Amino acid sequence: MLSIFFPKRRKKKRDGSLPERLPRHVAIIMDGNGRWAQKRGLPRAAGHRAGVEALREVVKACLEWDIQILTVYAFSTENWKRPRSEVQALMHLLVEYLEREVEELHEQGVQIRAIGRISELPVEARQKLQQAMETTAGNRRLVLNLALNYGGRAELADACAAMVRDVEEGKLRWEEIREDTLEKYLYTAGLPDPDLLIRAAGEMRLSNFLLWQAAYTELWVTSTLWPDFRREDLLAALEDYARRERRFGGLK
Ligand code: IPE
Ligand code: IPE
Ligand code: MG
Repeated sequence: MLSIFFPKRRKKKRDGSLPERLPRHVAIIMDGNGRWAQKRGLPRAAGHRAGVEALREVVKACLEWDIQILTVYAFSTENWKRPRSEVQALMHLLVEYLEREVEELHEQGVQIRAIGRISELPVEARQKLQQAMETTAGNRRLVLNLALNYGGRAELADACAAMVRDVEEGKLRWEEIREDTLEKYLYTAGLPDPDLLIRAAGEMRLSNFLLWQAAYTELWVTSTLWPDFRREDLLAALEDYARRERRFGGLK
């Protein structure tokens, strides 16, 4: 995996209502699309479609507010358990999102990346994603990191397998394996850990998201369903984050 260069946060004039201390990396579990649709008597796919609109707004806010990395949980390794029609609808939405948005995202300096077992995605989604990543690889303003067919346990298993292979091939000595060694084998290699993890729709769990990386991430859960999530909700999370004291096991 490529490591990436992050510019120093630009000292641009900020919206006065924005807190001083902002997270560099925000991760979001975009949950509650199905419940949103159900409340309206709509098919679940309509909830997913509305969820894409929320994502669009959040990406815009991140660009405006100088967030450097946004990682969004879009499809988990467990989501394959859902009915085939729902999985297909989700994959179709991904393709549509990339077709519609990449040009504008590229113009705005967004670098698209992906984490997860990407090779297992349907071919069209994989190709569109590959294209989007290639087109935007040089952008530095915001990393939009899409978690697709992502599972924290799968990521750790894949990392272990790759490490063992390198040990067998003599590229790595087992005595040298430390935490930072393992980190280089994760899908997120080169990215800093998330500072803030937002979960929509009220569930108090990680659902297999960023198990390693979220060790010291600040958690923020809202009952707002993802399709209803707006920039005000993101702002509320950022304000809460700014008030937290991060100790990382140390003392104040
Ligand atoms: C999140 O919304 C989107 C994905 C998991 C792909 P859900 O589809 O899980 O919505 P709920 O949790 O059923 O409301
Ligand atoms: C987590 O939501 C996965 C995504 C948002 C993509 P789920 O709806 O799959 O999580 P659980 O099943 O409620 O834990
Ligand atoms: Mg859910």
